[in-house]
Amino acid sequence: MSGFESLIYEKSDDIAQVTLNRPEVLNVYNIQMRDDLYQVLSAIRDDPEVRVGIFTGAGDKAFCAGADLSEFLTAPSPVVARQVRWERDVWSLFLSIPQPLIAALHGYVLGSGIEIALCCDIRIATEDVRFGLPEVGLGIIPAAGATQTLPRTIGRGRALEMLLTNHRIDSEEAYRIGLVNRIVPKDKLLQAAHEMARKIASYNPIAVRNAKQAVVRGCDLPLAEGLDLEKRLASELLGVAGRKT
Ligand code: COA
Repeated sequence: MSGFESLIYEKSDDIAQVTLNRPEVLNVYNIQMRDDLYQVLSAIRDDPEVRVGIFTGAGDKAFCAGADLSEFLTAPSPVVARQVRWERDVWSLFLSIPQPLIAALHGYVLGSGIEIALCCDIRIATEDVRFGLPEVGLGIIPAAGATQTLPRTIGRGRALEMLLTNHRIDSEEAYRIGLVNRIVPKDKLLQAAHEMARKIASYNPIAVRNAKQAVVRGCDLPLAEGLDLEKRLASELLGVAGRKT
């Protein structure tokens, strides 16, 4: 699939790679990128051939430096722009993708950038990565999930410190607090992401999807309901295996 202004979408075998592609402005998230992402995410979700998705950023300096402030300060009004964004609801779509998603992160990962990374299941980063949430300093709050996804990933206190003080986090701290799964040299970033993706893609796709669903949905459930969910998803798999034999 091609023809996107702000993204590159590549599919090779069973792995989809999405590259945020506005390197001249550090891949900042604008309305065009929202619309392109919506299409690409729908395509990934609906394509049974895609087993794993990888998200990365073009250029040397950033995965994504947040929302496009030039648009934010012009387009009809921030309130209307945000309303449209909610209606399109890229972020719910992102969080509902059944296949595992890997974020391959380098350089600045700010604002919407960290929110995209948090919509992914596994985060691999380079040594030069810098995370931050500048929104509160700009008089707004994140609206692409970070107030919910970040504390679920690094805990409430650390998330609030990032949000309220714009504390920037480097790769070592990100690894230590569980914001990233691993750190790799810059020239090995995509290789590491693809190796991991290929490994996941080599497994039974239903087992992979059910395992993701059990963890992602289970995290928001009381333990007893989470265990029920696991039981249901496990027996669904046994049913599939049984039908094959
Ligand atoms: N919106 C629009 N354009 C942006 C941008 C943003 N959020 N962040 C960077 N850019 C543009 C710059 O205007 C510049 O464009 P230009 O070359 O036409 O002047 C280009 O991207 C490169 O950025 P620059 O600031 O020159 O790079 P730097 O290495 O000196 O600084 C940052 C990098 C990330 C520290 C700095 O760009 C920054 O603070 N950006 C804003 C981050 C932010 O507040 N994001 C919003 C979160 S809601």
